[in-house]
Amino acid sequence: MTASDPSADGAPPTADPRGAFSSRKVFILAAIGSAVGLGNIWRFPYVAYENGGGAFILPYLVALLTAGLPFLLLDYALGHRGRGSAPLSFARTDRRTEWIGWWQVGICFVIAVYYAAVIAWAVRYTGFSVTKAWGDAPDEFLFGSFLQAGDPGVSLDVVPGVLVPLALVWAAVLGIMALGVQKGIGATSVVFIPVLVLAFAALVVRALFLPGAGTGLEALFTPDWSALGQTSVWAAAFGQIFFSLSVGFGIMITYSSYVSRRTDMTGSGLVVGLANSGFELLAGIGVFAALGFMAQAGGVPVDEVASDGLGLAFVAFPAIISEAPAGALIGVLFFGSLVFAGVTSLVSVIEVVISAVRDKFEMSRTGATLAVVLPSALVSLVFFSTTSGVYVLDIVDHFINRYGILLVAVVSMLAVAWLARALGPLAAHMNRTGSVRLGRWWLVLIGALTPAALTVVLVRELLTDLDTPYEDYPGWMLATFGWGVAAAVVVAAVLALRVRWRARTSLVPPEDDPSLDTAEVRS
Ligand code: ALA
Repeated sequence: MTASDPSADGAPPTADPRGAFSSRKVFILAAIGSAVGLGNIWRFPYVAYENGGGAFILPYLVALLTAGLPFLLLDYALGHRGRGSAPLSFARTDRRTEWIGWWQVGICFVIAVYYAAVIAWAVRYTGFSVTKAWGDAPDEFLFGSFLQAGDPGVSLDVVPGVLVPLALVWAAVLGIMALGVQKGIGATSVVFIPVLVLAFAALVVRALFLPGAGTGLEALFTPDWSALGQTSVWAAAFGQIFFSLSVGFGIMITYSSYVSRRTDMTGSGLVVGLANSGFELLAGIGVFAALGFMAQAGGVPVDEVASDGLGLAFVAFPAIISEAPAGALIGVLFFGSLVFAGVTSLVSVIEVVISAVRDKFEMSRTGATLAVVLPSALVSLVFFSTTSGVYVLDIVDHFINRYGILLVAVVSMLAVAWLARALGPLAAHMNRTGSVRLGRWWLVLIGALTPAALTVVLVRELLTDLDTPYEDYPGWMLATFGWGVAAAVVVAAVLALRVRWRARTSLVPPEDDPSLDTAEVRS
């Protein structure tokens, strides 16, 4: 960083009306805030356990190094060079790729509306932890008294216990987003991330001292090497990395467009990627230490107390909280961490939509925030605060992650590499100020190997989903909320192209400043 770098003193690097992070540190915290979310705490421990335990670490690392990190750097390159929301950055890379950015905007809208619901559950469970409201039947409590889930279907019967916290989550999001990039997203991340790290570290230490913790860790880390031969394990690793790193959503394109032109983006990407995986590992250790306690207390194997993602957090953890000494504290730390991690991710997801609307219609921050958050909150409340919310959530989550995030990732890599032929200029852009050089290895990964590996994963998932109805839900529900939602997002993306950019919006990528061709200007 040089003394002349305006970001050095914490002032915004430019008077950019789109908004900007005040420094590289704030950007990194916001990017970590986006990456570390429900995926790390709620999803990773179960996915790792189900897919070979210790042996999952190998596909996980392969997915991180060959797909997650290289793709994260592609996202950074597109946004940092294009200096726009996902659709504008794609349009500035090549007009023919703009629709991919809108596809990501649609995916983010869909994810935001259900992601908020899980945060709302965690808000309630933070309170329930104090009174242990689930009694001695957390499973029945979750699906019965709390979610009031009936048979799978669509119902308009509202569950007030979900509606109220969900409305509060959206009110908080509205407030954060209206404050803007630095004062809203940046400031929230600067406060929430250290609190989250402290709370979660305290939880993991507490869990490690519970009797039986070692049994849980053994279950998580004992490798089942045969799992490496199964494509489903590799599919799980790629899926986990993409969801967890927040790549393929357009989030990192959007965030990197708010960063000073002098910032070392490749070094920042490595910090974010490693911090996210470190947190994920910590979550695995904490959760399985606690499950080991539970297994020992019940005299059963760990696999009988470990259940799927939703159950792991909202069924197994309450059982642990009821049994463990200082259980209420464990509960508040665990569910409080879910809320904090979830909110910093949710704001990043909804920012993709707000930023795109702002760019397309040249709207004010407040106008675009209201135009996006109010309808999102309405859809979220209508679908996820009713007695059928949990089923719709499960289906949408399964399908949008595969035929949204993973598919758009493959399409965007191929389009940028082979249609726009932009990988060379994007690498050159990153290399101007980056501390890690993007060389031929990156071009080969993004242009060929990573999309090829992801295509294999996706085809396999597609064949499974066509062959076996997901979780045996009724066909019409899978067709509507699964295939239907994934397809509707693509149709909406193509329709968005019909709305023209305003005359003042340039679709030419802003010129790189030749004075940045030196490592000295890095910040
Ligand atoms: N990356 C975010 C998560 O892990 C979306 O939850």
